[in-house]
This record gives sequence, C-alpha cells and structure tokens, in this order.
Amino acid sequence: MATERTTIHTLIQKKKDGEKIAAVTAYDYPFAEIADEAGMDIVLVGDSLGIVVQGEETTLPVTMDQMVYHTRLVSRAVKKALVIGDMPFMSFQAGLDDAVRNAGRFVQEGFAQAVKLEGGAGVLDQVSAISRAGIPVMGHLGLTPQSVHQMGGYKVQARSPGEGDKLLADARALEEAGVFAIVLEGIPARLAKRVTQSVSVPTIGIGAGPHCDGQVLVLHDLLGLFVKFSPKFVKRYANLREESLKALRQYRSEVLSGEFPTDQHSF
Ligand code: KIV
Repeated sequence: MATERTTIHTLIQKKKDGEKIAAVTAYDYPFAEIADEAGMDIVLVGDSLGIVVQGEETTLPVTMDQMVYHTRLVSRAVKKALVIGDMPFMSFQAGLDDAVRNAGRFVQEGFAQAVKLEGGAGVLDQVSAISRAGIPVMGHLGLTPQSVHQMGGYKVQARSPGEGDKLLADARALEEAGVFAIVLEGIPARLAKRVTQSVSVPTIGIGAGPHCDGQVLVLHDLLGLFVKFSPKFVKRYANLREESLKALRQYRSEVLSGEFPTDQHSF
C-alpha cells in the first residue's frame, strides 16, 4: 500500500489538533531517505547546505541550480514527508517574475511540494505571487541568515518589545499573503509563543523555544557531522563525525596492514 504524503493541509490540521510537527533538513538521497523513514513531517532542503555541505562561511553563495540539484536528490528519496525547497539569496528578492519562475523550478525540476523564503513585510508580494501560481510558500522570520550582513552577524533577533511587535505584524501579514507555515528562527521563546498563538498557520521553531507548533534542526548539527560551531539551540543526538573518523581510521589501518581485504571480500 502506498504511504500517504504529508501535505500543507496535514500540517495545518496538526496545529488545530495540538499535534507537534517534526522537521529536519536534508541535502542528499541517503540522509533524506533516513529522515523520511524516521517519520519526519517535513524535509527541508535548506540553503544551510552552503555552510554544512559546501563549507562556505554563509548561505549567500548558494545558487538556484545548486538548490534545484539537491532538492531533486532529496525528492527521489522522500515518499511521505513534505519536501520544501529553500529559495536562495537573490532568487526572489529582485522581482516577482524571478520569484515565481524560481519557485516553479523547485517544483518542476526539483520535485518539491513547497518552497520557503526569508523575510517579512518586504516579501509579501512574492509570497502572494508564488501562491497564486499554485506553489505553497513557507515564511521565515527572525534570524534570517540571508540578511547576515544587515543583522551584523548571527544574533538573536527581536529582543525589544518594539521589534517583537514588528515581527508579530510580519507574521500576520505573511499569513494574510498566503503562507502555509512560518519558520521562527533565533527569537525569544516568549515572542515565539505570542506569534504561535496569534496566527492560524503552524510555526516551526529553530532557536525559538518550546512553544512553536513544530521544530526544525539542521541535520548535520543534530547528527554531529558539522562541529565547526554549534549554536546554543542545537541538541546533538549523535556524533557521526567521531563515528566516521573511527571507521575511516580503522579502514586505513587495515589497508596498510593487509588485514583488509580478506578472502571473504575477494572473488
Ligand atoms: O537553511 C536552512 O536550513 C533553514 C532552516 C534552518 C530553517 O532555513
């Protein structure tokens, strides 16, 4: 029997039912398959791949072609979760035509079911235009890494009451413009709770405390594959870097000693 695909409606219903939503990023076939088998509701092909896969300092160099390529790898593996493609820097900011065409590429070439884009009041027209093209859009507020230079670094956002009110207004405006969910990144837990209670679409938190409708983490952070830096909000559930290092060291040593391969691995 075919498994039923998670849709944007499943996620909205989960919020209504008070059921939490679990999301994780993935960038390739093997990890996307594992994420899906683990029961994730959402697999996000995040532009965080610029940092954790490509080794860049920021997400800014990531291109549309790269995002479409990785989204296709992920989509091939995922049978159940909703696959969301993350619109990279400059794929939607410069105009509505660009935004709609690039969102369309995620669906047509990457086989994603939805896209995500960063920003509040400044991207409402893009959200409406992409939604009108029949492509579901997820919003992203708070610490938006594509604005790293404007923020002056990766810092917790909206700490003051005025900034909190503005973020809440942005969340309401995004809902009005048609998003099906909103990522809240790097904001005080109290503000995330207020936003979560004020919008009818699910909020998915990352560094936004426990009151969001769901949580997302970067796969390489939670598996301990990316250890260059680790924000306070990351919980490491495994240490795959150490495990991989151990395995590769053992393999090397067995090759050097002649312990591998044996007759068992030979024809
Ligand atoms: O790029 C990404 O992985 C993201 C998530 C952290 C929300 O935007």
